[in-house]
Amino acid sequence: MRLNPFTGAYLNDPATLWRRILDDPDGVHYAEDLGVWLISGHADVRRALGDVATFANALTLAPVYEVCPEAMSVITQIDAPPTTAAADPPVHPRTRRALRATFANTPERVEAEYGAIVRRRVDQLVSRLADRQGDQVDLVADFATELPLLVVLDILGVPDADIARIRRWADGQIALIWGQPDPAEQVRLARGLLEFWHYCQDLVRQRVDGAHQRDDFISRALTYRDDDDAVLTVPEVASLAFNLLVAGHETTAGLLAHALDQALSTPQRWSAMAADPGLVPAFVAETLRFAPAIDGWLRVTRREVTLGEVTIPAGARCLLLIGAANRDPAVFAHPDRFDPHRADAGDHLSFGHGPHFCIGAGLARLEARVALTRLAAAIPGLRLTPGHRRSYKPNVAFRAHHGLSATIDIVAPAGLPATREGAGAEAYIGGQ
Ligand code: HEM
Repeated sequence: MRLNPFTGAYLNDPATLWRRILDDPDGVHYAEDLGVWLISGHADVRRALGDVATFANALTLAPVYEVCPEAMSVITQIDAPPTTAAADPPVHPRTRRALRATFANTPERVEAEYGAIVRRRVDQLVSRLADRQGDQVDLVADFATELPLLVVLDILGVPDADIARIRRWADGQIALIWGQPDPAEQVRLARGLLEFWHYCQDLVRQRVDGAHQRDDFISRALTYRDDDDAVLTVPEVASLAFNLLVAGHETTAGLLAHALDQALSTPQRWSAMAADPGLVPAFVAETLRFAPAIDGWLRVTRREVTLGEVTIPAGARCLLLIGAANRDPAVFAHPDRFDPHRADAGDHLSFGHGPHFCIGAGLARLEARVALTRLAAAIPGLRLTPGHRRSYKPNVAFRAHHGLSATIDIVAPAGLPATREGAGAEAYIGGQ
């Protein structure tokens, strides 16, 4: 089986390959080009995500290709201890406990602790866009990537002034690990990642040394640690910040871009959401299923494992095709149809499954719901620029638009009913 996620057919339309693998009775294949096993069926992907005794996370954040020696010598200087997504037992359960205690992850806590931040940042960006009546904007650069990054900076207590370099480092990390940069680019990105790690260590050091108690995630993690390395070490606090600054924005940026693309490419959908915000939560759930921001995720086998008729050896890297699992006809009716009214959308695996289930799922849903509700209410005439061509960043895990060109029109199209406020669309609804 050939899989080149970096060019051509797969980059533009991964669903065709997903369908081919799903239609094959095995659903598991070795991709020679990448040197990884592809796992596609919903049951197999769900098992691999949740079965930490067989499928380890140890190499999840290690580059998917052979890095050149010069870049590798920089990468080895990044001595961030593994936490959460890069950790396995016994480190994972301990660091996950720390994260659950310090990062809001239930609907009630997300609303109580982050609701005001999310609404303030959404309003700020929406009014900036609404002021540009008649202009052409890039919804990815001007909205989708901006919002989650601002929110996560607020949560971590990082100054807005650092936004540009954090975005550069985070984009670089994703390209370095799951992209296909040439050797010179690998070295440049690896140096950026090392700088990023030092920056996160500094954020923590300032709070360890600081006289003033702050109310942000990093301070909370230090308080939780209570000077006990058996609970959490200071480098692990920096490592959590390092992970959250990337995981907390690149993913939700993708969700927002995919949702806007789905909504605006069929203008009636946008009009319907502007008129009835109650439609937004189901729309977000279906976007998560149909166009996941992370459509492939890596694991490595701890031991030989048989899935269906196929045996994968121990020590093999596996790419769990979340995008394919979300379109498995065994679980989803008419899986290739984007249907915001479907009842089964909530069975998607876009936030993972099991012990590593996304800690930010509640925050991501809240951001997407508030963003779509308020953007549609303020700019009901928003439309994609005619002739706009979609293109995606070459990446094996993150499916991200390069841009989404649109025209601002704050006037509702003729025939659109007056917008309704509220309808509970912004509220978190469990599941999905
Ligand atoms: C649409 C948005 C998002 C998507 C699609 C997404 C996807 C995922 C997936 C698939 C995993 C599972 C990783 C694994 O099994 O190894 C995960 C884990 C994680 N996510 Fe998210 N995520 C999103 C938003 C966020 C946000 C907003 C945050 C935090 C601010 C966040 C933080 C994390 C962390 C820390 C983990 C690791 C949890 C662990 O290993 O215990 N994510 N996410």
